[in-house]
Amino acid sequence: MRAVQLTVTGGPEVLALVEVPDPVPGPGQVLIEVHAAGVTFADTMMRAGSFPAPLRLPAILGREVIGTVAAHGPDVHQPAIGSRVAARVPAGGYAERVAVRTERTVTVPDGVGDAQALGVLGSGLTALGVVDAGRVSDGEEVLITAAAGAIGSLAVQLAARRGARVIGLASTPAKRELILSLGAGAAFDSTADWESQLHSACDGRGIDVVLDSVAGPVLGAGMRLLAARGRHVLYGFAGGTLGSLETGQLGALMQRNLSLTGFTVDLSDEVAVQERIAELLSLVVHGDLHVPASDEYRLADAAEAHRSLAERRTSGKVMLRV
Ligand SMILES: NC(=O)c1ccc[n+]([C@@H]2O[C@H](COP(=O)([O-])OP(=O)(O)OC[C@H]3O[C@@H](n4cnc5c(N)ncnc54)[C@H](OP(=O)(O)O)[C@@H]3O)[C@@H](O)[C@H]2O)c1
Repeated sequence: MRAVQLTVTGGPEVLALVEVPDPVPGPGQVLIEVHAAGVTFADTMMRAGSFPAPLRLPAILGREVIGTVAAHGPDVHQPAIGSRVAARVPAGGYAERVAVRTERTVTVPDGVGDAQALGVLGSGLTALGVVDAGRVSDGEEVLITAAAGAIGSLAVQLAARRGARVIGLASTPAKRELILSLGAGAAFDSTADWESQLHSACDGRGIDVVLDSVAGPVLGAGMRLLAARGRHVLYGFAGGTLGSLETGQLGALMQRNLSLTGFTVDLSDEVAVQERIAELLSLVVHGDLHVPASDEYRLADAAEAHRSLAERRTSGKVMLRV
């Protein structure tokens, strides 16, 4: 089968289309004929060698796929052959076929498109998790970084559904328009001095929750903008560094009852994960959650998809058509 493999970490050019043997589904697994694979910012970090967990090479990236069940492993009967399923895989998604444990598959309801299903399965789980981690509630001001991104665009809507006033950051006018169309009350340029602009816009009252996937200088700025009892949720470092806090900011944490929370999506409880995916899919089916889709790329153009993501040219879900 065709797959996109890397044998060294580096720039997008290390992603090579190669022929590899088909995977064989083992006990408890099904073989999925992949229609499309999600491409995420974390994939670009793995490729570059900057992801916290080291990559075992050679590697086939891709942790979210949608396709049809093509074969069962020993003693497996469900989902039925031919079912359209989405699945979270540990690796190997940028390929024509992938073997995956059945409990990691989700049958995709009719009417839910490939990008929508991939968006829910990967980015949606994280978006819901960070909104929960921030304890976003009615009437609060919530600042969301990379708000037009795959995760950010869903977090904007989920926070707005809880009655929060959402302020999004994004680097282009088109991205900021998208954020406003998804229910944000305001959008600021992530490449300008948004901290001062936001400080004036909030009348000095401050932000209740910051959902931060960029880190670096954003960490300090977000913490400075917090209102008393505010929460800063750190869940990524797309900016390239984690950043640091000054001693005065640590003092403010204590004196103003602020909190800095880390978040990583927890996939250990399969039943809870399936419930959350079902909740998100139901929102999509009922038209209550929109999954914006970026351009889609051919499997052979995986390097270009990575370039677009790393160069901040995408908004919404990015996927490879297999
Ligand atoms: N903790 C978890 O469990 C978890 C799970 C999955 C992903 N993540 C993290 O969540 C974040 C978002 O992932 P995603 O796949 O949805 O990506 P994405 O948000 O669609 O794309 C990344 C966005 O980050 C923004 N950005 C800001 N500074 C940047 C810089 N220096 N270089 C590149 N981009 C920069 C850009 O938005 P603007 O150009 O509009 O500013 C860019 O479009 C990533 O940091 C990822 O690692 C965390």
